[in-house]
Amino acid sequence: MSDQAEPAQVAAKAIYLADYRPPGYTTTQTDLHFDICDGQTTVASTLHIERLDTAADCIELLGEELTLVSVAVDGRELATNEYDVTNRSLTIFNLADQHQLQIVTQICPEQNTALEGLYRSSSMYCTQCEAEGFRKITYYQDRPDVLAKFTTTIVADAARYPNLLSNGNLIDEVLLSDGRRQVTWQDPFPKPSYLFALVAGDLAVLEDTFTTMSGREVTLQIFSEAHNIDQCDYAMDVLKRSMRWDEQAFGREYDLDIFMIVAVEDFNMGAMENKGLNVFNTSCVLASPNTATDEAYQRVEAVVAHEYFHNWSGNRVTCRDWFQLSLKEGFTVFRDAEFSSDMNSRAVKRIEDVGFLRSIQFAEDAGPLAHPVRPSSYMEISNFYTTTIYEKGAEVVRMYHTLLGADAFRKGTDLYFDRHDGTAATTDDFAAAMADAGQIDLAQFKRWYQQPGTPRVAVEESFSEGVLSLKITQSPADLPNQEHQQPFHMPLAMGLIDHQGGSISLDTANISSNSDVELRDNAQTLLLGAKDAVSEVRVSGLTAKPVVSFLRGFSAPVRVSHQRDDAELAFLVQYDIDGFVRWDAMQTLWTQHFDANVEATVDPVATLGELAKSAVHCATPEQQLLAATMLSVPNENYLFEQLRGFEVDALLDARDAALASAATAHADRWAELVERYDSDQAYQPDAQGMAQRALGNVAFSYLSKTLQGSVLEELLQARYAQADNLTDRRTVLAIACRSDGISGEFRHSLLQDFYDAWQDYALVIDLWFNLQAQSPLIDIAGLQTLVAHADFDVKNPNRVRSVYAAFGMLNNRKFHALDGSGYQFLADAIMQLDALNPQIASRLTTPLTRMGRYDSARQRLMRSQLNTLSESPSLSRDLYEIVIKSLA
Ligand code: BES
Ligand code: ZN
Repeated sequence: MSDQAEPAQVAAKAIYLADYRPPGYTTTQTDLHFDICDGQTTVASTLHIERLDTAADCIELLGEELTLVSVAVDGRELATNEYDVTNRSLTIFNLADQHQLQIVTQICPEQNTALEGLYRSSSMYCTQCEAEGFRKITYYQDRPDVLAKFTTTIVADAARYPNLLSNGNLIDEVLLSDGRRQVTWQDPFPKPSYLFALVAGDLAVLEDTFTTMSGREVTLQIFSEAHNIDQCDYAMDVLKRSMRWDEQAFGREYDLDIFMIVAVEDFNMGAMENKGLNVFNTSCVLASPNTATDEAYQRVEAVVAHEYFHNWSGNRVTCRDWFQLSLKEGFTVFRDAEFSSDMNSRAVKRIEDVGFLRSIQFAEDAGPLAHPVRPSSYMEISNFYTTTIYEKGAEVVRMYHTLLGADAFRKGTDLYFDRHDGTAATTDDFAAAMADAGQIDLAQFKRWYQQPGTPRVAVEESFSEGVLSLKITQSPADLPNQEHQQPFHMPLAMGLIDHQGGSISLDTANISSNSDVELRDNAQTLLLGAKDAVSEVRVSGLTAKPVVSFLRGFSAPVRVSHQRDDAELAFLVQYDIDGFVRWDAMQTLWTQHFDANVEATVDPVATLGELAKSAVHCATPEQQLLAATMLSVPNENYLFEQLRGFEVDALLDARDAALASAATAHADRWAELVERYDSDQAYQPDAQGMAQRALGNVAFSYLSKTLQGSVLEELLQARYAQADNLTDRRTVLAIACRSDGISGEFRHSLLQDFYDAWQDYALVIDLWFNLQAQSPLIDIAGLQTLVAHADFDVKNPNRVRSVYAAFGMLNNRKFHALDGSGYQFLADAIMQLDALNPQIASRLTTPLTRMGRYDSARQRLMRSQLNTLSESPSLSRDLYEIVIKSLA
């Protein structure tokens, strides 16, 4: 039977964690047979099922958009009255302890624009099954607590699809008489259906090997379309580094004889950790100096590592249900962040992550879609791959690490993997392993999983007679119904700096507190385990009032309000031993500068000048990168989230004015830095190269703001012509796209030049669309021209994001235009996309859901677009959930 269009309003029922029940039957062995033909793929499955609950006598298999051909039990085909089929499920009755079910379905991957299940991308077939895509392939117990061993047989035209891949090891391969080829893969590890993958295509391959810590040799293969294969070396290098790192840092060894990655053009997310066969968005695997920026290289590094790390945190130990999603995602984000920190600069990685958390996750946690790290209900699980699950979830894992210390944390992860290997676990299981390994009580800590919103922490200092007293008060986020929130167990790391800028060594004998106190970092840092609404710390034996460095390393995901002198902030910028606190102090100087309600006494532009001066002498890549990061004015979204009661245009004007004044005030310094960090060496994506480019390009961007007209055009032209990599070229193009100091002709010719040179490289052209869509100089007609461009493809998620997400997330001037045209432009696109790809439509809606922080005129305009969307009779479940929750 075929799927009936079902209105979202009918299908969208909330699912509750409290309703979780283990399945009555499980599937232990799954044998799949795919017959791939043009326009139609036939899937035959043989499922070995076993009864778990003696009271059960039927099995519910889930399926969507499937054509059911036949159902048989133990070899006997069932009559249509022996099972029940709806547009969401197939239920088989009268079952005993053990059976073999045989089910045949037909699907049409060529028509699948949602990119979930089996679909076509360029010349290949591929799958995406997480979270609930497997049910678009065949009827199945598509839930993560059903773990089966899979064998997969694929039959397809031998000439057009020479590569037929699935999970596990290749066990059989035959050329059939009709010019078709049949291969069989066997995965020895039991897995839930969301980790299934299949790829059929004509692909080039990059091959290497890795010898594991116990001496087993693993074949590594990265597949891509032939024209991209020379951009896969970096990903291979990262993969090998990740495999070694996971052995060393977590004691985790790879478990199959082969590990494959396939790069596909059309992919909703970044990448997917299918067992032994990761499928990647090309944007997260391809990299070469002329086609990837330094940020893109770092993204490839993070994503390759992340998906590889899931082999243990996600695959060997998986999630019992989707409410536990952060168990694998939060933990694995923590793991990939640690990997990136070890590969590059730990301080800068931390700063980037906190910058992202504060601009994006804090906004989510303060808005209509706020939810806990372990949600208690959802309508559409695809909507819950959020920055709260991922980034706040990773912060929760980081807090275990901070509270337990590195050694006990490692004991905890070993215990967790040991206890739950081969099974589906919960966040409570993770907490229990940590509590047992660290011998600490984490009952209160678990509130981090249950209570939504970003808590506030207020710090009050007083000093008299050599005693520093800190009063630390936590209060819940101001969300509706938050009066029932209980205090969190928070690790708060802090230190003291004396007036010469020296770090003060602490002594427990001089410290008293109503909370647990421990010293870390050779007694330079005090770690407070705050559990009460009010914590007090007293440090005695001081000769003068020190400067307090608070929340070192951003030890807990909270908002801090700390009444203190601006001069102390400027002091911390210069002297603290913690890179994060130095950066954070600079951010606070900026936010106070932009806050109409604060009378600032220190001019951040002057502090910036000091930083620029010392940047000239930075010796190590680590210092250079930190300097580049600290020299940047906080981005627009960061300010939007930190400030309250601002007016969009006024704030953007103030930010532009600050940039201009920083540019002119230190013009000579910028020129000096540009020259100092101008490299004559060939591009290298290593720490040294990246740090030099970062600092050189920050300085160049400031320098460009001191010039205009033909002088600026010549400078841009010269730097563009001399660039041997996309990072430098992108910096010039971004300036040209935003600068009103150059002529339209010049801007246009630079863009045209770039397009002509790189039109065959989709990811580079994504950047070309992106820079234009985020430019404050573009208007709606310009945006319409972009989406009418021959290279715009509404079915390709990367291209769609390069215009619509760049516009909604990054073009604050035009998106928030007071005539509502920006909101309208995005809402129209969302409606169009929803019919093709609901996941992408739903994600694009995010900027419209952040209404709360804007003025009432803009709120009304945003609401009215959401209202119009909500009235559409054909909304997907995905979009319906986001829209109605935002309007509630
Ligand atoms: N398991 C996810 C991919 C996924 C997400 C599948 C949502 C289905 C729905 C994967 O491990 C992941 O988290 N990927 C991230 C990148 C990662 C570095 C955080 C992504 O795709 O953005
Ligand atoms: Zn993940």
